[in-house]
Amino acid sequence: MKSIVTGGAGFLGSHLCDLLLENKHEVICIDNLVTGDTRNIDHIKSDKFTYLNHDITNPIYFGDKIDYIFHLASPASPIDYLDLPIQTLKVGALGTYNMLGLAIKQEARFLLASTSEVYGDPLVNPQPETYWGNVNPIGPRGVYDEAKRYAEAITMAYHRAHGIDTRIVRIFNTYGPRMRAGDGRVVPNFINQALKGEDITVYGDGDQTRSFCYVSDLIDGIYRLMMSDFVEPVNLGNPDEMSVLEFAKKVIEITNSSSKIVFEELPVDDPKVRRPDISRAMDVLGWEPKVGLGEGLGKTVEYFNSTL
Ligand SMILES: NC(=O)c1ccc[n+]([C@@H]2O[C@H](COP(=O)([O-])OP(=O)(O)OC[C@H]3O[C@@H](n4cnc5c(N)ncnc54)[C@H](O)[C@@H]3O)[C@@H](O)[C@H]2O)c1
Repeated sequence: MKSIVTGGAGFLGSHLCDLLLENKHEVICIDNLVTGDTRNIDHIKSDKFTYLNHDITNPIYFGDKIDYIFHLASPASPIDYLDLPIQTLKVGALGTYNMLGLAIKQEARFLLASTSEVYGDPLVNPQPETYWGNVNPIGPRGVYDEAKRYAEAITMAYHRAHGIDTRIVRIFNTYGPRMRAGDGRVVPNFINQALKGEDITVYGDGDQTRSFCYVSDLIDGIYRLMMSDFVEPVNLGNPDEMSVLEFAKKVIEITNSSSKIVFEELPVDDPKVRRPDISRAMDVLGWEPKVGLGEGLGKTVEYFNSTL
């Protein structure tokens, strides 16, 4: 089996490359390193692994048969997509278009890495896949949310118009080793602030909720979805919801840190609640997260400690 992973040098993509190689796939990792890093794939020594530095907003062709295209390329953290608004829109639109074209040509099955951000600032909690969302298209975060909504729409259009085999995963906050310390997402932010004894910056009053999925659970779910025959979007994430303030306290406890919590202004359109309804993933994939927050945070803290 031959698989392409776009965004394979990023946080999730690199873990997916590892799992595919374990499952005996040949893997072509395509990444332009705009937010990724070859250090995430340096450990891979397999001759079944190829890395191509390529911006997928430009077309790319392969002679050999490709079986699966896992399309993960996109800036993903708010710091990145606010800094790279046009690149984010382009990779969601042109990048997805190019990869769908490749899927037709190679007769490959195609999986889109979408996001819980398609639900925007949700008016329904937890969010089932049937909820259409509450997104501000012209706000600063709209570049990411709308790019992913467009990517879902074009994926379904290619499925309906060209009959290609597609999958859509809506990923909720996922954390683990190989996240960038400075990527601005809440998990690396808090852990690195705690490890350095710096103030932990909570936005707003910290009442907004999040739920955190450990990376190995998420990657297992993505693989199961690709191998399933289910075309509609599937939420993957951990339904254990907690407030950001509670999470900050948990990080302080796990790292045994002397850091203090300080409060800063809430970013524009920051979602107030975020929790996946994973009934569909349980029914269709027999999937649910296995790694608890204590265990996952322990491994992530160990990773960031080793990079300090
Ligand atoms: N980590 C999460 O919690 C989360 C949540 C929801 C959705 N997602 C989605 O999962 C995917 C991976 O996210 P991540 O957390 O690993 O982020 P990441 O930034 O670590 O990885 C994204 C990768 O895509 C690459 N990339 C971006 N634009 C590209 C382009 N035009 N051509 C080639 N490569 C390009 C980057 O260099 C990077 O290596 C993204 O599509 C993201 O939207 C992630």
